[in-house]
Amino acid sequence: MDKLFIFDTTLRDGEQVPGCQLNTIEKIEVAKALESLGVDVIEAGFPVSSPGDFNSIVEISKAVTWPAICALTRAVEKDIEVAAEALKHAKKKRIHTGIGVSEYHIKYKFNSTREEILERAVACVKYAKRFVEDVEFYAEDAGRTDNAYLARVVQAVIDAGATVVNIPDTTGYCLPTEYGAKIKYLTDNVNMKNAILSTHCHQDLGMATANSIMGVLGGARQVEVTVNGIGERAGNTSLEEVVMAIKSHKELNIETNINTQKIYPVSRLVSNLMNMPVQPNKAIVGRNAFAHSSGIHQDGVLKHLSTYEIIDPKDVGIDDNAIVLTARSGRAALKNRLNLLGIEVDDDQLAELYQRFLDLADRKKDITDEDVLILAGKETDRMRRIKLDYLQVISGHGVRNVANVGLDIAGEKFEASASGNGPVDAAIKAVKQIIRRQMVIEEFLIQAINRGSDDIGKVHMQVEHEGINYYGFSANTDIVVASAEAFINAVNKFVK
Ligand code: KIV
Ligand code: ZN
Repeated sequence: MDKLFIFDTTLRDGEQVPGCQLNTIEKIEVAKALESLGVDVIEAGFPVSSPGDFNSIVEISKAVTWPAICALTRAVEKDIEVAAEALKHAKKKRIHTGIGVSEYHIKYKFNSTREEILERAVACVKYAKRFVEDVEFYAEDAGRTDNAYLARVVQAVIDAGATVVNIPDTTGYCLPTEYGAKIKYLTDNVNMKNAILSTHCHQDLGMATANSIMGVLGGARQVEVTVNGIGERAGNTSLEEVVMAIKSHKELNIETNINTQKIYPVSRLVSNLMNMPVQPNKAIVGRNAFAHSSGIHQDGVLKHLSTYEIIDPKDVGIDDNAIVLTARSGRAALKNRLNLLGIEVDDDQLAELYQRFLDLADRKKDITDEDVLILAGKETDRMRRIKLDYLQVISGHGVRNVANVGLDIAGEKFEASASGNGPVDAAIKAVKQIIRRQMVIEEFLIQAINRGSDDIGKVHMQVEHEGINYYGFSANTDIVVASAEAFINAVNKFVK
C-alpha cells in the first residue's frame, strides 16, 4: 500500500474564515485532537501575520509530539525568519513558503515576469533550507497556470531542496479531470525522486474532494485538507471526505494514518469551537449523513445495511444509523421502531397502526418516539413533562441580559431568573437552574424560514447528557423563545 500523507490546515486556511478565529488555548485543543486523529502535518498558522498567530505556533509546537508542525510564509526573507523562530520548539518542523505562479498573479499581483518569479521561488526555498530540512513550496494559483511553466517551477524548487511541492487550485476553478491531468503531467515531467506532490483544493465549484482524489490518482502523495471542509470562501477539501473515500476504495491501494473513529468527535470539536455549524447533509459528518428516510431505503437497511450504506457509521465515530420516520416510511420501519420501544405488534395491529401513522405523518414532518408511543396507546407521564409556561427577557445595548422563566413540570409550577451574555444564554441558564442536570449544548443552529424581519426562526439544538446527544427543535417568531423551547424539547427526551 502507498502512504498518503494528511496535511491539515484547519488552523491556517480554515481559521482565516471570518468568525472562526480561535484563541491559543482553543488552537492547542484542536491541534491535540488532530494529533490523536493521526494527521501527519498540522499547518498551525501564518506567524508573520500577527503576534497571536506566532504565539499559537510556539505553543502548539510545545504541546504536540507526533505530527510535523508547519508554518506558512510568503517568499519573503523576514517571513521565513519569523516562521523558523516560531517553530523552534517543534519536534518535527516544516516551513511552507511560496509565490503566485499564474499569469494573473505574475501580472496583476507582482507586476513581474515568469523568469523573475522562478528566481524568487528558488530563492525562498534556499533561504528556508537554512533553517529547516523540511521545506514545502506552494505554487499559488497553480490550478490556472500553464503546465509547462508550472513544471519548470516545480523542478527548480525541488532542485533547490523542496521536499514537498504543493499545487494549489487556489480559486477552486479546475475540473477534476483537468486537475488530475495537471498532477499526472508533473509526475511524468519532473524528477520527483527527492520530493512528493501535494494537492490543495478549494470548494468554489464544489469539486474540492473530487479534485484532490484525482490528484492522488495522478501521483500526489499528500493532500491538504481541513476538518468539515472549513476554509476561505466556499471552503477547502474536507479531511473526512478524502480519508473515507480512500478507505472505502481499497482497490486504490492507498492508506492514510487516520484513526477514522475519531473523525466525528473532531468534527464536533471544530464546529463548536469555531462556531461553524455543519450542514445537515454534509457527507460523513452531517446530522443526516446516516439517516434513512425513504420507505424503500429503510426497508433495505433493516434487511441488510449494505443495501444502502457504504460506510458503517461506527467507523467514523457515530453510534448508529438512524431510521427517520416520515410519510415515506414503510411498515418495516414502523415495526422496527415499535420493537425498539419495546412494543410487540401482530400483523393486524401493525396494519391498523400504520394507517394512523400515515395520517399523522401527512400533517407532521418527523414522527418522534413520543408520537409512536401515543399512536400505540403507550403514552407515559414522562412525555412532554416539561413545558415552557412563560419567558420574559430584558436585553439590549448597555443593559444586563436577564431572563425570567416559568416552567410547568408535570403540572407543578417552577420559576427562575438568570443573567447571561445574551438573551438566549440568560434564558437557557434560567431553565438550567430549574432542571438541575449535567447537560451541555453541543450544537445550536438558528435558521430563518423566509427572509423578512417578521420571519419564523427555526432552532435545532443538540444537548449532551451522560454521553448521549439528544436533539431538540422549535420554531417561533421569537428566536429566544424558540431557543428555550428547543432546549426543553431536547431535555424532555432524557428527563424521567
Ligand atoms: O489556496 C492557496 O493557494 C493557499 C496557499 C497559501 C497554500 O492556501
Ligand atoms: Zn488555500
